[in-house]
Amino acid sequence: MTERGNILELRDVTTIFGSGITETYANRNVNLTLPTEPASIISIVGESGSGKTTVARTLLGLQQPTHGQALWRGKPINTLGKQERYEYRKEVQAVFQDPYGIFNPFYRINHVFDMILSRFKLASGKKEQQEIVEASLRAVGLRPGEVLGRYPHQLSGGERQRVMLARAHLMRPKVIIADEAISMLDVAIRATVMNILLDFRDNDGISTIFITHDLSAAHYLGGDIMVMRKGEVVETGDVDDVLHNPQHAYTQLLLTSLPNPDPDLRWQTDINQLAELERAAGVSDR
Ligand SMILES: Nc1ncnc2c1ncn2[C@@H]1O[C@H](COP(=O)(O)OP(=O)(O)OP(=O)(O)O)[C@@H](O)[C@H]1O
Ligand SMILES: [Mg+2]
Repeated sequence: MTERGNILELRDVTTIFGSGITETYANRNVNLTLPTEPASIISIVGESGSGKTTVARTLLGLQQPTHGQALWRGKPINTLGKQERYEYRKEVQAVFQDPYGIFNPFYRINHVFDMILSRFKLASGKKEQQEIVEASLRAVGLRPGEVLGRYPHQLSGGERQRVMLARAHLMRPKVIIADEAISMLDVAIRATVMNILLDFRDNDGISTIFITHDLSAAHYLGGDIMVMRKGEVVETGDVDDVLHNPQHAYTQLLLTSLPNPDPDLRWQTDINQLAELERAAGVSDR
């Protein structure tokens, strides 16, 4: 039987930063629904500063909207009780840009998994722990024997991102929120990561909210697209329909030119965000 309802929902979310002349509407009346089943992909695109990360942070419970509501399984995220919050943290996972900053350089890769295995009590014994870690690494196309004993700097950016995907997969989440998860990767590796997300959807019932500057990536993933501009959703729908027949002038513009983000700035934000999330989930050792 299919589970009904929405796993995540934004209802008329408006998020304002600052006041007076510094007032910024990071999000303005944003609506989004992600059904619990079947697993699906929603890409969020838009120029730098259009409010995409604010949507991600709101869905991750890191940003409280000024107006409107962010809901997990129909409940406002900010009112979840302890047990519900724990379930929510398991079900809604995040993957950001190259996550180098989240890895502790002094620990081998195993450590990334050990932390969440114990925090979320995902396995009953050492043997089971080993099995589920290996299964998740295989699900992202990595060889456990080659990866687990290595230090973070001994992996490529693509491998590190796959480790993060394996780590999210380990939790058996319902949703992965991927904010620019492929932006730092070579074009060739981008497809690998996107294929993993498609496999997660098809094999494991995991949905993805995929934030990107790359319209071709959104197209590759299929599903739905949400186009944002200055905090507002200007167009939404099936990605093929929207990209082949854009209704809004801004979407048409995006199709011809996309501004480049500042990689240095975003790198730093990315690390801070993940660290913040780790602290919220109580699994950080940094
Ligand atoms: N904590 C904050 N304090 C003040 N302003 C903020 C804060 N977070 C975001 N903003 C502002 O809100 C707007 C939307 O930011 P957001 O990070 O959501 O955009 P984005 O679409 O993710 O951009 P990018 O593509 O560059 O990552 C921007 O104008 C940004 O400067
Ligand atoms: Mg962003």
